[in-house]
Amino acid sequence: MAQSATAETQNNKSIVRVNASDATSFVESVLVGNGVSPSNASIVAKRLVAADLRGVDTHGINRIPSYISRIRHGVLNPRADPVLHQITPVVAQVDGHNGFGFPAAHLGMTRAISMAQDFGIGMVSIKRSNHFGMSAWLVQQALDAGMMSLVFTNSSPALPVWGGREKLMGVSPIACGAPAGREKPFILDMAPSVAARGKVYKALRRGEKIPGDWALDGEGRPTDDPAAALEGVMLPMGGPKGSALAIMMDVFSGVLSGSAFAGGVANPYDPSRPADVGHFLVAIKPDLFMGLEEFKERMDYLYRRVLGSEKMTGVERIYFPGEIEQITNEERLRDGIPYVESEVEALNKEAALVGVENLKTME
Ligand SMILES: NC(=O)c1ccc[n+]([C@@H]2O[C@H](COP(=O)([O-])OP(=O)(O)OC[C@H]3O[C@@H](n4cnc5c(N)ncnc54)[C@H](O)[C@@H]3O)[C@@H](O)[C@H]2O)c1
Repeated sequence: MAQSATAETQNNKSIVRVNASDATSFVESVLVGNGVSPSNASIVAKRLVAADLRGVDTHGINRIPSYISRIRHGVLNPRADPVLHQITPVVAQVDGHNGFGFPAAHLGMTRAISMAQDFGIGMVSIKRSNHFGMSAWLVQQALDAGMMSLVFTNSSPALPVWGGREKLMGVSPIACGAPAGREKPFILDMAPSVAARGKVYKALRRGEKIPGDWALDGEGRPTDDPAAALEGVMLPMGGPKGSALAIMMDVFSGVLSGSAFAGGVANPYDPSRPADVGHFLVAIKPDLFMGLEEFKERMDYLYRRVLGSEKMTGVERIYFPGEIEQITNEERLRDGIPYVESEVEALNKEAALVGVENLKTME
């Protein structure tokens, strides 16, 4: 769909549309201009654009200025390559060497998949990493190889434990997936808070308010002001259950890996120290207990039962986990990705600093 630069608006903001391939090559060039190798830049760029394509705009290319700020402050090494150590035939460890989280996690999932192909399951623990954005891209990497997966990470303190009032646990997403046959695959990717903190940063960038049930301000009062919310805490989903899931992400990603944990991970927007994020990835062959066709038929049956469920009043359609994002992905591949003009300006500023041309928008 052709759009003129300012013909479209969202919440009174001017929107421009960009082809996924143009967004990817733009981000690659900006990263290479900041010292990242072309192969690692390609991994990072494709995963950030994948988030924008799926409508997870909080974890897309708008993260670039904050990542580059970390490079500039010397707390993220743009030249680092992750290193893999095989621990047992089905267990490996990746040391991210404080490079981008995306190549470390990509290497980890690649190895987990190959172990699962040989032995049915592959488990990888990743230490000394950084933010890897939207977890669903790793679930998709496993799905592309026909694998089920678990994708865990820890993150910087943003959430109180149940009963507490200080930021201690991360808003650390829990993600997993399973392939289907003819129907949509299962892709769960959710933060254990009412909303991901990236949604608060996005509202702040865009000068928007947030719903009153997402966060408390520094005084412990509900707030719709994103700046005040960032001074306070994010609220866990389901009270003690969300808090327990956040602790679970820290046990598997932080304690187990040897990375920072218990509130020790640095915020991706804090350029004062390395983040030391940990991740935990598992790939599982779906045809361990029955033939692949039977597994896929069972997934397809589950999908149809879920979608065919009797709907509550006011609901027009039931979606499978991950399905809304897959529909958005198809739309945005076709029509281009909508970006807020002011955010594109921030990206173009980064590009200018390393002599890269502005992000190309659709005419
Ligand atoms: N790397 C990090 O440190 C970090 C931290 C926090 C969040 N994140 C990312 O932020 C993103 C957003 O997280 P979130 O918790 O806000 O996600 P969300 O609330 O938008 O979605 C959570 C899950 O619910 C499903 N869902 C949503 N609406 C649905 C509906 N109407 N019917 C059926 N299923 C539905 C989605 O498909 C998804 O699987 C995720 O991609 C996550 O990985 C990353």
